[in-house]
Amino acid sequence: MPSNPNLAEPVPAEPVDPHADLSSVLPLTAEIREGHLRVGGVDMVGLAREQGTALYVMDEAHIRHQLREFRRWTSFHASNVETVYAAKAFMCKAMCRVVHEEGCMVLCASGGELAIALAAGVPASRIQMHGNNKTIAEIEEALDAGVDRVIVDSLYELERISAAAVDRGMTQAVLLRVTPGVKPDTHGYIQTGQEDSKFGFGLNHGLAMEGARHACALPGIDFAGFHMHIGSQIFALQSYSKAIEVMVEFMEAVRVETGRTVRDLDVGGGIGIKYGLADEPSTIEEFGKVVVDGIKEECERQGLPVPRILIEPGRAVVANAGITLYTVGTIKELPGIRTYVAIDGGMTDNIRPALYGARYECLVANKADRPRTEIVTVAGKHCETGDLIARDVPIQEVETGDILAVCATGAYCQSMSSNYNKQVRPGVVFVKDGQARVVVRRETYDDLLRCDVG
Ligand SMILES: Cc1ncc(COP(=O)(O)O)c(C=O)c1O
Repeated sequence: MPSNPNLAEPVPAEPVDPHADLSSVLPLTAEIREGHLRVGGVDMVGLAREQGTALYVMDEAHIRHQLREFRRWTSFHASNVETVYAAKAFMCKAMCRVVHEEGCMVLCASGGELAIALAAGVPASRIQMHGNNKTIAEIEEALDAGVDRVIVDSLYELERISAAAVDRGMTQAVLLRVTPGVKPDTHGYIQTGQEDSKFGFGLNHGLAMEGARHACALPGIDFAGFHMHIGSQIFALQSYSKAIEVMVEFMEAVRVETGRTVRDLDVGGGIGIKYGLADEPSTIEEFGKVVVDGIKEECERQGLPVPRILIEPGRAVVANAGITLYTVGTIKELPGIRTYVAIDGGMTDNIRPALYGARYECLVANKADRPRTEIVTVAGKHCETGDLIARDVPIQEVETGDILAVCATGAYCQSMSSNYNKQVRPGVVFVKDGQARVVVRRETYDDLLRCDVG
């Protein structure tokens, strides 16, 4: 038995090219100069030394580029499309402002996210509110702010929104989240029963139709349309095509049953990104064509007008815009087994490897021009055997004190970070045109003690 249960599954030995170009997983402005990794015209080694590590770095130009690509390739195929950035992937006030400046909306999944979007100055009319179990306080906060749409997950929630809207003498536009029964998978798509999902109204047993009838009838509710979200890190676009076919068919069934032709169809997020060099996600252009043309074709087939189309990308906007910088500490060589390279962060700033077995490419930022000739396992500093950021990955010859950059950490790392082991969370720096600005400061021990009032 291997002594480390997290390494029990051997990682398949893939041929590693030590000279492989990492630019496809790095931010768009990444370059190597005098052996150092630079992003946004800023030397990552100098930045790490100045700001301390661990540190999240986000390439602002990359984020703006992705948002523009989503807008470009969806509006290329239809005039009435909104890109609604899923803030759960990465959020702070600076990010919300970038999203708003780029003409996109912000999708919030909690009262906290809503508070940050509003504090950033995003108008409520450019915010949508999600969450599969919104509290009454969160529903009231969304209605009081005047958000564009509340996405509804259950009959119970629909009734609570109706009651809150009636109390306020207002009408709230809502979308019903429907589970189209399509589960994306790298091997195609698999039909799922709605019993299997905690999200939304399933199509089986008439639940979604019941939701639509209620949404038509309840006071204070403007039943604007439907929402779906079939998953995340999706490479196979046929999953979207299949789900769109199901959803538009259902829209027609709702029209026949209730007389209501809905105005919005939101296809959610989920477009995959490149974490590893072998990953081959679809392009935003392909996604835009499949989604928008797919909806247009299905609507034509059903004799329905084309609704306003909403897309909710999160990961694809920010993942490759981000890197995390760490300082290398202990290096532990276990001859014939593996080499552990320990860093000054870990599962508190990136839970994804422990949570999903996610894999990342790494490089030594101060030796970025050298070949990645070593295979190491990058270990975090936390008291969990599973606290490994990258298993058996190629890297340059590494020494204590080197600055390690982990690629494609812009999504679901900072937003899922924690204070486990009372680790302070890293700061976030936006880089652009040779300038670095701290947009989220590193936490201090005082921050850890602030809520500890006992
Ligand atoms: C409802 C909804 N929309 C959009 C997203 C964003 O997904 P992704 O980051 O994979 O694009 C999520 C993520 O879980 C989601 O739950």
